[in-house]
Amino acid sequence: MSTTTTTTTTATTTTTTLPAQKSKPNGANRMPFDGLPTNYNDFRDALSRDGYAVIKGAIPRERADKYADAFLSYLEGFGLGYNRHDPSTVRRANLPVLNEKGMIQAYGVTHEQWVWDIRGEAGVIDAFAKVYDDEDLIVSFDVVNVGFVNREDLPENKPWPHQDQDPAKPGFRCLQGLINLHPSGPNDGGLIVCKGGHNVSAEFHAAMNARNEPRIPAWTPEWFGFTEGGMAWLAERGLQWEKVCCDPGDLIVWDSRTPHYNVPPTGTVDRLAVYTCYTPVCEASKEDLVRKKGAFEQRLGTTHWPNAVHVAPTNVTMRDGERCPVARERPVQEPVLSERTYKLTGIPYLEAMV
Ligand SMILES: [Fe+2]
Repeated sequence: MSTTTTTTTTATTTTTTLPAQKSKPNGANRMPFDGLPTNYNDFRDALSRDGYAVIKGAIPRERADKYADAFLSYLEGFGLGYNRHDPSTVRRANLPVLNEKGMIQAYGVTHEQWVWDIRGEAGVIDAFAKVYDDEDLIVSFDVVNVGFVNREDLPENKPWPHQDQDPAKPGFRCLQGLINLHPSGPNDGGLIVCKGGHNVSAEFHAAMNARNEPRIPAWTPEWFGFTEGGMAWLAERGLQWEKVCCDPGDLIVWDSRTPHYNVPPTGTVDRLAVYTCYTPVCEASKEDLVRKKGAFEQRLGTTHWPNAVHVAPTNVTMRDGERCPVARERPVQEPVLSERTYKLTGIPYLEAMV
């Protein structure tokens, strides 16, 4: 039996057919993430061993270039003076509000059509479907990141090594991801990871607890920052940090336990990235899906958690203590979703529960 629902949102009217019952249950061959070697002969072996992997060409180069153009056009479209061809326009006043890490967190950017188009790319979805052995996925409504070469008056991006997972909840819980849209070599901005750090995470936290290592304050228990003492522990274990190099259209995935942060560019290429993270819908509760539906309808962000652990309170951002003059509640281009991407909102699955 299959289940069909028809749904109208402000932007979309979508008829969704949920899959018929399969002979083999979803997830029967999902990656175990148990620290033991795997033998898939694809990116999953690196992910299991190193805690991260690069899926080359998850988005074909031609479309990746188109998305990079859409990203830069979006920045120019605020009308604040930024011009991709004039490095002198890379100034706070000429740009939407970015945090020091390069993230645009407001303006409803996470629901712009071009961001949804990236989320709907088959090669990106398929990587997560392969890891979970499950096509019934939901996606995060996460932010985008721009790391400018010519930072000048932008705040400094200092190292902020962390893992995006509560140490009190050990074991594999989330596979994070980002789509890279500009060339990212050794001197370019991008993700840096502590290779293999996922497999020593439980041991690490036990050692930190045993010596009462102070905790870096965090806005959520699902974020853990590595202190100097923590970094020294990783180094003593022989773990190395590695800047992940990749091309436009490549997808980087990492286990949330893997220590990571992003580095600013020191070369000549701006960094452009879109975070995207999928998880099986069966791991979300009805309450999660209700919260997620609300986030979608209000065009709000959810951080990297696909089950909407956190929902941003607003898209309106402040600039120097006042409402940003170009603040907006909703995206410039309201998203029109395909059947596949609409399923990723979780709404069809929620409606099938009623
Ligand atoms: Fe992170």
